[in-house]
Amino acid sequence: MKRLIGPFKEIVTMSDAPLKGALTEDALGLILNGGVLIEDGQIVAVSGFEDLKKQAYDIDLIKDDRILMAGLIDSHTHICFGGSRAGDYAQRVAGKTYQEILKNGGGIHDSVNKTREASESELTDLVKLRAKRHLEEGVTTIEVKSGYGLSVEEEIKMLRAINSANSLVPADLISTCLAAHVCPKEFDNHEAYLKHIIKNLFPQLKAQNLTGRIDIFTEDGAFDTKLSAKYLSEAKAFGFDITVHADQFTSGGAQVAAEAGALSADHLEATSDEDVQLLAKSDTVATVLPGASLGLGMHYAPARKLLDAGCCLAIATDWNPGSAPMGDLLIQTALIGASEKLSIPECIAGITFRAAKALNLADRGRVKTGQLADLLSYPVSDHREIFYQQGKIKPNMVWKAGTKVVG
Ligand code: NIG
Ligand code: FE
Repeated sequence: MKRLIGPFKEIVTMSDAPLKGALTEDALGLILNGGVLIEDGQIVAVSGFEDLKKQAYDIDLIKDDRILMAGLIDSHTHICFGGSRAGDYAQRVAGKTYQEILKNGGGIHDSVNKTREASESELTDLVKLRAKRHLEEGVTTIEVKSGYGLSVEEEIKMLRAINSANSLVPADLISTCLAAHVCPKEFDNHEAYLKHIIKNLFPQLKAQNLTGRIDIFTEDGAFDTKLSAKYLSEAKAFGFDITVHADQFTSGGAQVAAEAGALSADHLEATSDEDVQLLAKSDTVATVLPGASLGLGMHYAPARKLLDAGCCLAIATDWNPGSAPMGDLLIQTALIGASEKLSIPECIAGITFRAAKALNLADRGRVKTGQLADLLSYPVSDHREIFYQQGKIKPNMVWKAGTKVVG
């Protein structure tokens, strides 16, 4: 039963835009006065609205001038957490650094205490609420990390909560195990903690089908490059996809990620020119997190340099209680885009099909035959309005696998 939606003033298809490197206007693949034909949750045709009318069984007529594009993908969040870290914010603006707060037993450790206090069903509700807010802002696929449990039982609790929330919200939630966020207070040895996780948590993740992805925070004060490389190779041997929190304050993590064959290296504020080249030659997606730069008052990651070197650049919120509490993907993309001089197609690619690659998903992120019908429409008639309006514009309609979930 084919259903047609349209007509749209512009459809931003990105249908043939390459996965890697800089993008110019032509990458948008604009279709004017177009429609999208949908069947069984998938896009079966994208073309002029009038041409598609004959094939449609049903028509969702769009009044007024709108633009249509792929649903947004946020490939890096930590939205499963209890409590607030407003106290950290006050300390930082009074002069303490993020790392000093962490070293003094606060920061991530504070969220660990508050998340351990929350029950699985409380966490499920919190993830559901935050994912719903994201969906209303057009985000149809959301990666969600654990990492505030830091013990076998508490990490399992977090992942179960994320997976339960997935069945309660129409967005797709992709879980990732970040047990290697920092060394928990119960362990005084980083290596012993990671060995414990590999031995006692990894088999459970597989047996209970809790996640297919493993992440590690490679950084001074978290895990060093040597331990990270070892942990990631063990994770790969178990059959997990891997990703790395890399080069947020000091460099080294991006190299570990590229050499380990990680799907993505995320943060990159401190990445060296050499490592930009290394990422460009690899299949590892370079994911920048402008929300963390904004939250910590730091410079952005070198997104322009990464694209010019030939990287696949994704942009994600890093939505978390510490460094990035805002969680607005469109606003953050507009802000880094203006500072780093990213073209409109580079911004759109970073939060659609290039972000999908960071999640190892090839079935979404473009408005193209064969892709999932994850779509959104904005109440404007020109795609340039989206970032011109600095991301404050919100979708008036969102579809997940062909079903209208907003509007
Ligand atoms: O990506 N840097 C490490 N982890 C998160 C922050 C987590 C937190 O501060 O709670 C990040 O920025
Ligand atoms: Fe993060």
